[in-house]
Amino acid sequence: MVRGLSAVCGIIGVAVERGALPEKLGDVLYGCLKRLEYRGYDSVGIAFIDDLGRLVVRKSVGKIDEVREKIGFSEIDGVVGLGHTRWATHGRPSDENAHPHTDCSGTIAVVHNGIIENFSELRKWLENLGHRFRSETDTEVIPHLIEEFIRRGMSIYSAFKRAVSLLRGTYAIAAIYAGGRRILFARNTSPLVIGLGKGYNFIASDIPAFLRYTNRVVVVHDGELGYVTSSSVRLEAADGKVVSVETRARVVEWSPEAVEKGGYRHFMEKEILEQPQALAQTIAGLGEEVRRAAELIARAERVIFVAAGSSYHASIIGALALTRLAKVPSVPLVSSEARWWLGRWLSDRDVVIAVSQSGETIDTLIAVRIAKDLGAKVVALSNVLGSAIPRESHLAIYTRAGPEIGVAATKTFTTQVAALSYLAATVAKLRGEASRSEYEAVVEDLRRCPISASLAIESGRSLVSKALDVFVRSRSAFYLGRGFGLGVAKEGALKMKEVAYVHAEAYPAGESKHGPIALVEPGFPTLFCACSSEELEMVASNVEEMKSRGAVTILVAPRKLAERVRSADHVIEVPKHLSPAVQAIPLVIPLQMLAYETAVARGYDPDKPRNLAKTVTVI
Ligand code: BG6
Repeated sequence: MVRGLSAVCGIIGVAVERGALPEKLGDVLYGCLKRLEYRGYDSVGIAFIDDLGRLVVRKSVGKIDEVREKIGFSEIDGVVGLGHTRWATHGRPSDENAHPHTDCSGTIAVVHNGIIENFSELRKWLENLGHRFRSETDTEVIPHLIEEFIRRGMSIYSAFKRAVSLLRGTYAIAAIYAGGRRILFARNTSPLVIGLGKGYNFIASDIPAFLRYTNRVVVVHDGELGYVTSSSVRLEAADGKVVSVETRARVVEWSPEAVEKGGYRHFMEKEILEQPQALAQTIAGLGEEVRRAAELIARAERVIFVAAGSSYHASIIGALALTRLAKVPSVPLVSSEARWWLGRWLSDRDVVIAVSQSGETIDTLIAVRIAKDLGAKVVALSNVLGSAIPRESHLAIYTRAGPEIGVAATKTFTTQVAALSYLAATVAKLRGEASRSEYEAVVEDLRRCPISASLAIESGRSLVSKALDVFVRSRSAFYLGRGFGLGVAKEGALKMKEVAYVHAEAYPAGESKHGPIALVEPGFPTLFCACSSEELEMVASNVEEMKSRGAVTILVAPRKLAERVRSADHVIEVPKHLSPAVQAIPLVIPLQMLAYETAVARGYDPDKPRNLAKTVTVI
């Protein structure tokens, strides 16, 4: 029996006056959950208070559209409700493990994202008091704790606060109760935001859930809790002090249509094709925050990047740019491995750069905390204002890619590379490693990014037309590169794995002869990336060695340079850039498109790849 079922989830709550929203409560919850679905989608559940004040809970395994009828969203009306989509991290999804979870009396419902680390002892204590549990989740201890303290004479809100005070671990919680019109909430580490409306208020895991109704947002900080009604919000800090919601409210520029697919087949396609705009917005926004970070880094003895997934690949490119351009020894670490590497030597002379588009990846957040405990200064690079990692860092730089709904990172990767390229050039100038004119050259190079990204989309269509069939038929592939090209190869391979489920492996091209080449047989797709003439010259021999073994060889390289390697079966040219770090941006776009089209051709949904979630807030 799997105990401690935890999950990465999407939670939503809404308190609304009748008629204040255009749809009924059930349709509002359905729409919000649809926009949270990328956070996880093994099972779905809702809870609401009916006209007689009774608590009603409906939940089921399955994706939201599979269970829409069973849950009966469209017939649900009312003034307060919760919703939850779950992505199980341990153990199979099941009806009884789906959220919301209730207390013995069935009058309190709770949804939760995170892990309650001390749930076993809490559960034993509650069972000894007579509480009966129906699921194996850690979450279910929360409604029973609230119930226990109500039994002891506390008000519902005091009981809720008392219950939360006993929890250890990570949580974003929302709770409703029979006869009540409030949604109680609490946050520690897992993301939670409030949407402020007229005649209604939302509580959710993140902003896209309710963005079509309101763009006035309050980010709930760790340790904070409170409740929302249709007309008021109470927010308390961990020490009980009331926080002014007005001072914390922010208007989010993301327009609702920005979150919708906008006519594209999938969010991933939309986000690949809007990279020129995302790059333009990001580059235009790089200013003071980069200069402040550069001053810190220019004085550093060493720089360590900590990141996961695509952010780790952007970090490889960023670390190489800082090392080569600014001569600052820099290394990229996978966040979940950081604890093994940082503990023994990191000091206050070092700077850690935490790259995380969501700003919520728990592995990266933990690495940030380790780095700070060891005295290092931490600079965050994120795409989400107010998210946990920037808040816990000393300085923050933001990309302005807009909401990325597709699970596989695309525009957040290229905008991260743009920001890190600019950061490296700024540090190089401060350290006297780059003259003013060299610095200006990189800045000019960056300014050309949006245009070259548009042209790279055409290169992507050419790559798809030449290579799609090979990849649709293949189970494996190699993505090979050197230097900056290796970071691109790793990102391209990850895309192909994430959405098309092709076992694409990225290697340093020079490593092929130390093993991987044994896998190559006739028809085996091998894709080569090169960001500069120096890299290309060295990759040329690898193209030969693979081709001589019957592999299908595909080279993606800057225009003009690519002509030097005519032996590849397919040569895809992208606009040429001066800086190899900046060159990575147009170079990766055809690889993103190849992975996307391979997934679609294979009949998969690139927005919801199996077993993956957009933000992993569980270790
Ligand atoms: C994974 C996502 O869960 O987390 C990837 O599927 C992402 O797309 C990785 O690159 C890291 O996420 P973040 O938000 O820390 O950049």
